[in-house]
Amino acid sequence: MTGFSIARYDRRALEAVLPAMGEMMRACVHAGASIGYILPFSAEDGVSFWESKVLPRLDAGGLVLLVARENGRVAGTVQLDRDTPPNQPHRAEVRKLMVDPAFRRRGLARRLMAEIEEEARGLGRSLLTLDTRTGDAAEPLYLSLGYAVSGIIPGYCLDPAEPKFDSTTIMYKRL
Ligand SMILES: CC(C)(COP(=O)(O)OP(=O)(O)OC[C@H]1O[C@@H](n2cnc3c(N)ncnc32)[C@H](O)[C@@H]1OP(=O)(O)O)[C@@H](O)C(=O)NCCC(=O)NCCS
Repeated sequence: MTGFSIARYDRRALEAVLPAMGEMMRACVHAGASIGYILPFSAEDGVSFWESKVLPRLDAGGLVLLVARENGRVAGTVQLDRDTPPNQPHRAEVRKLMVDPAFRRRGLARRLMAEIEEEARGLGRSLLTLDTRTGDAAEPLYLSLGYAVSGIIPGYCLDPAEPKFDSTTIMYKRL
């Protein structure tokens, strides 16, 4: 075992791992992750997400994408949306933190968050915002990293697997 390696990905690097990124997203949604999508969700749907929502934003420079791998296998990812309006030059949004179910509970999300915060600092961002489904495993993770809860929006999004709405928790951290 070599452990996780985390790197910043541009278009070329992401294109080289698109099928694996699609499969990781499929595995996460099927394991219950609330990351914008609902079942049915295939690996091809995952590839479409990376192609249509992420590649153009990488090209435009509005997004920082980190990808973690272990022994060549894609294990996790997180994004920093730096495309904030002119009146929020100090803020960025943390998005789409996900760890493949096969690699969970080994501290990878914690490492991805530490590295994305370093990226944010490097970009001169001092306020990070994010949202996560209320009650999810990510909530204690963010709290332990110093994020504060600013509020809960009930009925924010559809549950990925059941015909019901879930709440979301809005959080922030000052770096
Ligand atoms: C949330 C998620 C990213 C955590 O990934 P991970 O690599 O397993 O997390 P880590 O091993 O770094 O754990 C960090 C902390 O998160 C919390 N945590 C992680 N999994 C948890 C679980 N199943 N239940 C409760 N707390 C959990 C714990 O506080 C943990 O700290 P500890 O191990 O010291 O107790 C992963 O479960 C995931 O991808 N979930 C689906 C996608 C998602 O919800 N993303 C967040 C969108 S905002």
